[in-house]
Amino acid sequence: MSMRTTALSPADEFPFTQADFKTIADLVYEHSGIVLGDHKRDMVYSRLTRRLRALRLRTFREYCTLLHGRSGEEEISSLINAITTNLTKFFRESHHFEHLHKTVLAHIWRTTIGAKPRVRVWSAACSTGEEPYSIAMTAMASRREAGREWDFRVLATDLDTSVLNKAMTGAYPAAALEDVPAGMRESGFAPTPSGVRVAPDIQALITFKQLNLLGPWPMRGPFDAIFCRNVMIYFDAETKAKLVERLHSLLKPDGWLYVGHSESLLEQQHRFRLCGHTIYQKTGS
Ligand SMILES: C[S@@+](CC[C@H](N)C(=O)[O-])C[C@H]1O[C@@H](n2cnc3c(N)ncnc32)[C@H](O)[C@@H]1O
Repeated sequence: MSMRTTALSPADEFPFTQADFKTIADLVYEHSGIVLGDHKRDMVYSRLTRRLRALRLRTFREYCTLLHGRSGEEEISSLINAITTNLTKFFRESHHFEHLHKTVLAHIWRTTIGAKPRVRVWSAACSTGEEPYSIAMTAMASRREAGREWDFRVLATDLDTSVLNKAMTGAYPAAALEDVPAGMRESGFAPTPSGVRVAPDIQALITFKQLNLLGPWPMRGPFDAIFCRNVMIYFDAETKAKLVERLHSLLKPDGWLYVGHSESLLEQQHRFRLCGHTIYQKTGS
């Protein structure tokens, strides 16, 4: 006897039309610059179903109506939080931290004689914090080697408020330390009952703030180095070009820009010199 199952497949739980997808994709683009092509339809569905359940909605049509309604602005923030991809880890693309340590910071110590160096680094899409904490730990190691005082700070920003809240706690599972260099594990973290917490002296070097890379930037810089990694891949060429131009203007002369492993500044090559895999140095002023 054949058995008929009445269970709905996950994709049938909430009706989701092409028009709903377009409404959501347009709003996401407008508010974050993230391009959601048709191939992202299933991803959008699965990332938003939890939101629909929480709001007790039955269809994506209802969700779109809510997004365009009176409390729409508030919901857009939850929409963006659900859509962003926040994958990151400590010392991801470790050659960037090696370069920051041995080239950028070493040069600053060498060339700032008789004065306290002032160094500013921006982690421009910091996600859950592993990137800015890796920068701060690298800086701490550099300062220990130099044996001198300095004024060092990291600005860490992201559009997604939920990842920023997590970043600010500085709490991670112990397994997250896999790629942290051995010496920095000891000095950078303290054990907790559920994992580890970033040491207070590392945390004190970082300011976390919400910032949309497409919106106004309240800070003036200039930065010695900017980490803008694994975020431009979500943008179209026009958004990326404008962003790179703005990053250029916030860097010090000869400042450094680190981009993600599958990103490049091919179209903006005249503004930067490629100095290693995904490592760029500002040219001009
Ligand atoms: C894949 S994570 C990259 C994290 C880290 N930079 C790294 O490389 O490991 C991409 C981050 O970009 C953020 N993001 C996406 N669009 C943004 C925007 N318009 N402004 C600021 N951050 C954005 C997301 O919230 C997400 O946390």
